[in-house]
Amino acid sequence: MAATGHEKVEKNIGLMIVLIIVVISIGGLVQIVPLFFMQSTTQAVEGLKPYPALQLVGRDVYVREGCYLCHSQMIRPFRAETERYGHYSVAGEFIYDRPFQWGSKRTGPDLHRVGGRYSDDWHYAHLMDPRAVVPESVMPAYPWLADTGIDGADIQHKMRTLKDWFGHPYTEEEIEKAPKAVEGKTEMEAVIAYLQNLGTTLKTVK
Ligand code: HEC
Repeated sequence: MAATGHEKVEKNIGLMIVLIIVVISIGGLVQIVPLFFMQSTTQAVEGLKPYPALQLVGRDVYVREGCYLCHSQMIRPFRAETERYGHYSVAGEFIYDRPFQWGSKRTGPDLHRVGGRYSDDWHYAHLMDPRAVVPESVMPAYPWLADTGIDGADIQHKMRTLKDWFGHPYTEEEIEKAPKAVEGKTEMEAVIAYLQNLGTTLKTVK
């Protein structure tokens, strides 16, 4: 009996691999491509602004120090999470995050809506020595942030790049004044400014 089409595919592993890739690609494309065009995944939520200079520095410190290794910024839409952290995270809140800090590793709590939860003084004490405010904490201390200054020209370049290449809506004035905005500040102040802003745009929707 002549081999049927199906039999040919089953007996030829090379052809089978090619066809499997084709099928999976179609499945993937159908799921992924629409995300590039949907409003809810491509538009910033109302009121969202690109990070001001000081917060942008703070965000870089956050990435450099690897805070994401222990902290996610992605509240899942489950009751146990929304009761603890607040409104679940939505894609439009991360339009100005390059790269985003979602993650799933939670040695510490999710930080997406930590903005405004504690005072600046609390954050300062906590980052200088977490055990001073949370005795059982396993978080490392970051005291050097308090005596590390900020390079204003550097952050100005970064804002310009974000505007020119990625369309972050900074005004010329904001870019112009960036070095002034971070003058005399420390990385500690920057990371606290960043933390205090986290997730605040949607906070009222709770
Ligand atoms: C080794 C894991 C680890 C790393 C790295 C880490 N943290 Fe934490 N963090 C924790 C743990 C555990 C807690 C909970 C106990 C506490 O509050 O200290 C925590 C708590 C926090 C809290 C309080 C959150 C809340 O809702 O109570 C903030 C804010 C925070 N971390 C910020 C940071 C920042 C900023 C960095 C990077 C500079 C960082 N963490 C790095 C483990 C970590």
